[in-house]
Amino acid sequence: MINIAIDGPSGAGKSTIAKELAKRLGIIYLDTGAMYRAIGLKAVRLGFDTLDADGIQSFLDNTDIKVAYIDGVQSIFLDGEDVSVAIREHHISKAASDVSSIPAVRIKLVAMQRKIADTEDMVLDGRDITSYVLPNAKYKFFLTAKAEERASRRFKELTAKGQEVGYDTILADINERDYNDSHRAFAPLTQTADSVFIDSTFMSIDEAIAEIIKYIKE
Ligand code: DC
Repeated sequence: MINIAIDGPSGAGKSTIAKELAKRLGIIYLDTGAMYRAIGLKAVRLGFDTLDADGIQSFLDNTDIKVAYIDGVQSIFLDGEDVSVAIREHHISKAASDVSSIPAVRIKLVAMQRKIADTEDMVLDGRDITSYVLPNAKYKFFLTAKAEERASRRFKELTAKGQEVGYDTILADINERDYNDSHRAFAPLTQTADSVFIDSTFMSIDEAIAEIIKYIKE
């Protein structure tokens, strides 16, 4: 299988870029963050503190996460319910980051991701794909951008969707998630030595995709 792994911090444009890249290459895109978001959503709905490892673990075995593709577009199902839209709420980002620090959550989702990645060629994005999920992926990229630029992109995206969140709140949340995602003990966000580093601060989506395709062609 040919796997293209893209890691990087929140809001670096990974999902937009990975989705478009997959489309151009005619392969599927696995958004691994959506899986952590689904667990975060369930924790919030059940009223758990999202950092309460014992509480989260208590429902993990009875939690069914499924990824499905309809016309090449990923949908995510939580216990049979399509939660693709619900997981995009702003407060679920923090919940996802919190639950992702719990080893049992990662063990469950990483096993699923490896299994899915073994079925066909795909682009995957996340935090630990290049370092932990698929260290032997054929192509590896680390995509980042300055925090202020990422916050401003997220602000535009959420405002366009009608969600009311201030830029300063988003920037603070991004900094907090960057810290949490790169400091957790188990499989933190990190740039591996064999990943191609791309800073998209001053790049358009198209330019970043062109950069990735250039490396793949080489
Ligand atoms: O990519 P995203 O913002 O949708 O991810 C939500 C959270 O999930 C993120 O803060 C960290 C976690 N995550 C992770 O730990 N490992 C991944 N492979 C993907 C996401």
